[in-house]
Amino acid sequence: MKHEAIETNVGLMIVGIIIAISFGTLVELVPLMFLKETNEPIAGLKPLPALELEGRDIYIREGCNTCHSQMIRPLRAETERYGHYSVAGEFVYDHPFLWGSKRTGPDLARVGGRYSDDWHRAHLYNPRDVVPESNMPAFPWLFEKTISGDKTGTKMEALRTVGVPYTDDDIAGAKAAVEGKKEIDALVAYLQQLGLLLKSRR
Ligand code: HEC
Repeated sequence: MKHEAIETNVGLMIVGIIIAISFGTLVELVPLMFLKETNEPIAGLKPLPALELEGRDIYIREGCNTCHSQMIRPLRAETERYGHYSVAGEFVYDHPFLWGSKRTGPDLARVGGRYSDDWHRAHLYNPRDVVPESNMPAFPWLFEKTISGDKTGTKMEALRTVGVPYTDDDIAGAKAAVEGKKEIDALVAYLQQLGLLLKSRR
């Protein structure tokens, strides 16, 4: 009997189990790959300009994403506090995603426009100057280091290969747009655009 052949053969049994359990995963994942809602950028979404792109890399380098998520769940407590819940179409140009899962600090998915640039600068220089009870680390070196811009265009080219629609002009002008700027300016520019596209719909 075929049934007996499977039950008495470990190799066949393993293959059978893998096929059986992969159905659950496939049924959940494969349709998402083809759904418009999860693949298409939301209205108005543009690739990050050069300065914001450098800011995003500084955000990753400094490990901001290890304490801050960028993903508002569709739960009342979160939408009341942070604004419109996150949707897949906001992240189609994000490589890698910075959704995160650890919230030592607040979610930053819609922090853009919540504070002034000056507030962010003071906060990043020493969080305790503006939030006395804060345990966020200070990042004073961002005020000294400047960006060379040598790699900004190359980063855009790399992102273009995975579908981010940077134009030749974006790439050609990338270095000039960031050269000599302080790292803090790039980081604040990145923070100030986070989540703006859906914010007003709250
Ligand atoms: C060790 C954890 C930790 C790290 C790393 C960290 N933060 Fe924070 N962050 C916090 C905590 C806790 C708060 C809440 C207290 C405060 O406002 O300072 C906070 C607050 C903030 C806020 C205010 C958010 C709001 O809605 O009030 C911003 C903006 C922010 N962090 C940005 C950053 C950036 C940018 C970086 C990386 C350069 C960073 N954080 C790194 C823990 C962290």
